[in-house]
Formats: sequence, structure tokens, C-alpha cells
Amino acid sequence: MKKLVIEGGRELSGTINISGAKNSVVALIPASILTKGKCVIHNVPAISDVDALMDIMKFLGSDIKYENETLYIDNKNVENKNIPDKYASKLRASYYFMGSLLGVYGKVNIASPGGCVIGSRPIDFHLKSFEKMGAKVKEVDNSFNITSNGLKATEVFFDFPSVGATINVMIAAVRAKGVTRILNAAREPEIENIANFLISMGAHIKGAGSGTIEIEGVNTLGDGEITVIPDRIEAGTYVIIGALLGKKLKIKGVISEHIDSLLYKLKEMGVSFKINGDTIVISKCKSFKPVNIKTTVYPGFPTDLGQPMSTLLTQCSGECVFEETIYENRLRHIPYLNAMGANINALDKKAVVFGPSQLRGRKVKATDLRAGASMLVAGMIAKGNTTVTNVEHLLRGYERIVDKLNDVGGNIKLLDE
Ligand code: UD1
Repeated sequence: MKKLVIEGGRELSGTINISGAKNSVVALIPASILTKGKCVIHNVPAISDVDALMDIMKFLGSDIKYENETLYIDNKNVENKNIPDKYASKLRASYYFMGSLLGVYGKVNIASPGGCVIGSRPIDFHLKSFEKMGAKVKEVDNSFNITSNGLKATEVFFDFPSVGATINVMIAAVRAKGVTRILNAAREPEIENIANFLISMGAHIKGAGSGTIEIEGVNTLGDGEITVIPDRIEAGTYVIIGALLGKKLKIKGVISEHIDSLLYKLKEMGVSFKINGDTIVISKCKSFKPVNIKTTVYPGFPTDLGQPMSTLLTQCSGECVFEETIYENRLRHIPYLNAMGANINALDKKAVVFGPSQLRGRKVKATDLRAGASMLVAGMIAKGNTTVTNVEHLLRGYERIVDKLNDVGGNIKLLDE
């Protein structure tokens, strides 16, 4: 187990470069299985979720190499093997192998996906859609056995615009016969990035990034190439840190429209920043006005930024209401913020934050990936030193986070527990 020891109150200046998006690359790698051609994926972050997916790819027979932030993939020797729990449970995104293996071979057997414990996180939309495409789904001993005589195109409507289900169905539909339509599809920018990768291989996809996606099945696919878009959640996290501790801190390599929901809230709070092309320059704000935050689907305020944002809310002068609408268990970090001196009343998926509070260094725990980001931000603004345990969660999603923050003036140590 690893922990972070963070010295609070250090001013940050210089440049932080944003890496490729975790939630894009974790789908791009399994999507590559659709072709026996060669694939190149640029701007790949060195995070443990990528290592876990590379292990699954190698297990299936892929020749996959990671060099200079680029993945080179040759799947000509890939076979459709049962993916056991020791691989699938390492991360949530292992479920994208359902879509890709089903698309190519018409069947797949894979253990249940892992991921952060932030709610019940069912995958019924994925499974129902595969069934509508003609597949039979059996769940036996914590594994999904999905079989078909070749997928056929259909129309699916999601009760909720799920990111994972949208991507999984889009991947599966690329090789299905006919035109598949996804209605009430998720519109997160990662979906368009993945569609562009599939299109580069020869897939026919229209509307990715909108609420209706149309995929016309093709028989064969060729080589694929894509650059992973910048990680909007990583960028947003550093922007939040910049609003608290920055001195002309530059966050570089950002598509600012992807974090408009955050930037608008920061303006409302009185934070000043400049956007110069792909760079956001941000300085510490002396007094934050209170705001309310309600997480929702893109382009609304992202649930993945809710937790780091809740730490910022502890510094507002007055009362802020923070509401999570996507997951049931995204407030597990609140008791730790309170232990550090925050004044937050949390009930169910809602929290009322009274501020400003001077946070004090304590030993706290990263209960999941974005809770880890919340604790990191708290430690950086607290008086004294903060120890954050269980930071494996955090390291899954943020590339070289300790180096990136230390390079701009932070004092954070990553130690074995
Ligand atoms: C993805 C992201 C995650 C982000 C989330 C919401 C990846 C690997 N993860 O997760 O970082 O927090 O989007 O932006 O990209 N749901 C169902 N049935 C389903 C699928 C989803 O009920 O079959 C529900 C979920 O329980 C949840 C909501 O829909 O309440 C959103 O889930 P979804 O968008 O699918 O999230 P993930 O793809 O798991």
C-alpha cells in the first residue's frame, strides 16, 4: 500500500502539462480488438489502468508495446479466451472487451468488472443492448457468458445516458449487420474520441458526441490511429488546485470547452483566470463567493470533479450546497474533510458546506479515485502535514501526479505504508 505525505500551504507556479484522458484510453485499447490490422494510439498516459488493460491484451495474444506515450498494437494473433477475474476485476473498463470480443467473435466470456466502489454501478444497459442485438447473456459464478450467432443491428434507448453502455454498444455495433441506433446516448467528449478511432479503422459512425449515434456495420476493418484527447478531469483538478494555491499557474494542453461547467462556477465564485489557446493561467483567489454544485451528465458539472470541488467549497465564505446525482456513494470523503476542520453536513447524496474553514493536516484515507483527489487538494491547503493512505486509487487515474505538483512548487512524498 502507498501513502502521500503532503506539506500544506505551498504556492504553486510554473506549468502543468495535461495527459491523455483516462476514460478515453481505457476504451480505445479494448476497441482495437475489432481489427486484425495495426493500431497506433498517441498521448497515452502512464497510469495503472493502462497497465491492467495491456495485461489483458497480452493475455489474449496481442503484440502491444508502450513507448514514448504511444501504444503500438498488432492483434493478428489475438484469440477469444475467457478473461478471468484476476484481470477483469482490476478495473471497470474491462467491460469494453465485451463489446469488442462480441463484435469480432460473436461471443465472450469475462469476469465481472472492477472499479471504484461509488455506487451499485449495474451494467444492465450494456447487457440488455447486447440481447437486443441477438445475444444470449448468462451470468455464472461472477462471470458473464455472452453468445450469439453474429450480432444484428438494432435500436437501443438508454433510460439514462450511460457513458460505458454508449461506448460498449458503439464498439459492438461496428461489426454487426445493418444500422444500429443508440438513442439517449451519452455525450461525453471521450465518446467522440473513441468513434474517431473506430472511423480511422473503417467504421461508419455518425453522431458521436450527440444524443443519437448511428453505426452502420462493416465486414472488415483496417489499421487504426488516434490521439487521446486531454483528460478534462485531470485538467479540472489542477484548475481547482490553481484557484486555491496558484501564482500564475499554467495548466497546459487543455480543451477548455470540455471543462466549461467548472470554469463557469469558478467565475461565479470570483476566481480570475485567463485562457490562452490550450493553456489556462490561474492564480489563488483571496475570497471565494459561495456557489451550489449539482453533478450531472456532460456538458453539466462532472461527477468525477465533484469530490475535488467539494474541498474547494470549504473555502467559500458562506453556505454552499453540493449535490451528487449520478452515484449513491460519492460522499464518503466528507467525514475526512470534517476531520481536517471542514464544517459539512452530509445526508444521502447532498451536502451543505459552511465556510470558510481552515483545514488542518491529519491522517486521512482515499476511499476511491476522486475521493483521493479531494484529499490531495485538502492536504495541499491545510495547515501542517497531511498523510493520505490508500493512494493506489489516486494513482490509477492521474499520471505522475506527485512529480507534476512538485515540479510547480509542491512538497509531496509518495511513500510505502
Ligand atoms: C464512466 C466513467 C466514470 C464517470 C461516469 C459518469 C469510465 C471508465 N468511467 O463510468 O469515470 O464517473 O462515466 O460520468 O469511463 N447505469 C445503469 N446501468 C448501466 C450503466 C449505468 O443503471 O448499465 C447507471 C450507473 O449506475 C450510474 C449512471 O448510470 O448511476 C452512470 O453510469 P455510467 O455513465 O455508465 O458510468 P460508467 O461508464 O460506469
